[in-house]
Amino acid sequence: MCGIVGYTGQDEAKDILITGLKRLEYRGYDSAGVALECASPATPGAPASGVTLSVIRRVGKVAGLESELSAFGTPSTCGIGHTRWATHGRPSVANAHPHTSCNGRIAIVHNGIIENFTELRAELERRGHTFASETDTEVFAHLIEEAYEGRPADSATGEPARPGSHDLMTAVREACTQVVGAYGLAAVCADEPGVIAVARKDSPIVIGRGERGSYVASDVIALIDATRDVVVLEDGQFARLTPEGITYTDADGAEIEPAVTHIDWDIDMAEKGGYPDFMLKEIHEQPRVVRDTLVGRMVGGELDIDELGLTMEELNLIDRVYVIACGTSYHAGLIAKNLIEAWARIPCEVEAASEFRYRNPIITPSTLVVAVSQSGETADTLAAIRDARIKGAKVFGITNVVGSPVARESDGVIYTKANKEIAVASTKSFIGQVVSLTLLALLLAQVKGKLTTGQVRMLFRELGNTAEQIQWILDTQGEAIHEAALACKDAHSALFVGRGMGAAIAHEGALKLKEISYLHAEAYAAGEMKHGPIALIDQGFPVIAVATKSPVYDKTVSNLKECEARGAQIIVVATEGDEEIRAIADHVIYIPPVRDAFSAITATVPLQLLAREVAIMRGCDVDQPRNLAKSVTVE
Ligand code: AGP
Repeated sequence: MCGIVGYTGQDEAKDILITGLKRLEYRGYDSAGVALECASPATPGAPASGVTLSVIRRVGKVAGLESELSAFGTPSTCGIGHTRWATHGRPSVANAHPHTSCNGRIAIVHNGIIENFTELRAELERRGHTFASETDTEVFAHLIEEAYEGRPADSATGEPARPGSHDLMTAVREACTQVVGAYGLAAVCADEPGVIAVARKDSPIVIGRGERGSYVASDVIALIDATRDVVVLEDGQFARLTPEGITYTDADGAEIEPAVTHIDWDIDMAEKGGYPDFMLKEIHEQPRVVRDTLVGRMVGGELDIDELGLTMEELNLIDRVYVIACGTSYHAGLIAKNLIEAWARIPCEVEAASEFRYRNPIITPSTLVVAVSQSGETADTLAAIRDARIKGAKVFGITNVVGSPVARESDGVIYTKANKEIAVASTKSFIGQVVSLTLLALLLAQVKGKLTTGQVRMLFRELGNTAEQIQWILDTQGEAIHEAALACKDAHSALFVGRGMGAAIAHEGALKLKEISYLHAEAYAAGEMKHGPIALIDQGFPVIAVATKSPVYDKTVSNLKECEARGAQIIVVATEGDEEIRAIADHVIYIPPVRDAFSAITATVPLQLLAREVAIMRGCDVDQPRNLAKSVTVE
């Protein structure tokens, strides 16, 4: 999952590309590069177009590329750029995008994976092409070159030579017919100055027209300064961008009129707003996310999720629920399982999407598959959706990105109102997911007659109270969290424990600490500790527990006593007013009293903040942790 951007117009392209790449950096940040169309000096043998391509690439973050480009003085009003998350070939200048054709006249940037690149590369090398990188992507540059310039006869296959189209759009369409895999692709050709050719299959591409040119990017955030009316390119669609305008075609080259989507949020929402990092800003947005996700959900005393795309009769027939997701979204599923089974009495399985799609799960027409994804473009979750639909399941999506593939490929969708989430570690979107899943569980319980309308209304009101409860934690627990972080920062490993809802929350806490502080952490149901993990504990070993007031509170406390007896450092998220817990805990972080069913919405917040503090104390980049990217569009 990389970020690509392109611009052709009247302005200096490199500045626009760098701004776009910085905004796309959450998608991958191990190397970056641009290709700029520059006027070539009128010397003998100079290209007829009078244009050459300047390709500048750097290992590391976009800021490094920016400083390199600051010394690049040649004007250019057309270019493409890329920020990378390596899949094939380690981070290096040679493997950084853009990649070019043998003649250096064609350059491409790509987001996705080419599954048949090994065969294509072998064929191209047999036909005389030389490769400069280890990447899968580079085959695109050579395939486009062959389609543009012509293909020599292939002695091995006996295929005759083929004339070139000498048309970039045609060449890109032809190259795509040979590629198996996912691609968001942008290409430029020095022989067609000012033209950017774009193709999309299973990888996000948005395109927009501004007053001073045409723009393409992996995400609207990179072009929202220029326009808020964008086209989300569909699979199999192509676009030709010029300074004057944009034309869209299908795979056969026939012109099409894609729908235009208006973006209703502004760039301020994607800025830090005075916070030191996006993660802290987004954690502080969570009270608003709870409120916004509940807006309009109780209409005339009735729960309203009309986006479900299912009638009450169809809902009533549901006899099995699967929640499919990855990472933090999977943990939101663990919370939902507790609620759907407790309230609606429907069996609910939570499945890692990467496993679900290869496991042949039992699915019938009365199975509801709930696909949860912040980005809405996680490859495994998407593939699991397609698999579930083929098997006849009803699919309901919960995502944070309007018009994302998960939204488009589900029967119904709820959007979590978290707005743009920039920090790689999901926080506010998780809270939005848990609130949305709680609404779904309430509706299923009501439809199944397990909860009365009155009970649903009462629970809905209590759910709304979690917004101010989060605010109370943000306003009052900073010191306690800081002290707890100091206690953990030098550890090599940590264990997160809980029971019931607490066990699900513990998984999310462990993931947050792992992914941003690189401190190894595992989560366990507290009752499981004595069956093995307790062997890890020695003097000072951090055990972080969710021990809020719940039907299993006493059991959790006795498990913590077993850890304390072996010298563990006990850090507890507890219910405000619980003084008893202080007897066994070294550090206590309080949350306001809350119904156990809603405790995930509030008790997760201290664990998000704890992970962030430990990461900062260990000198880590909390917004862009190593080896990670915000959306995982590859298998
Ligand atoms: C969580 O902080 C991570 N960013 C990661 O685990 C993430 O939850 C996972 O990749 C799923 O992403 P999605 O919700 O966009 O599908």
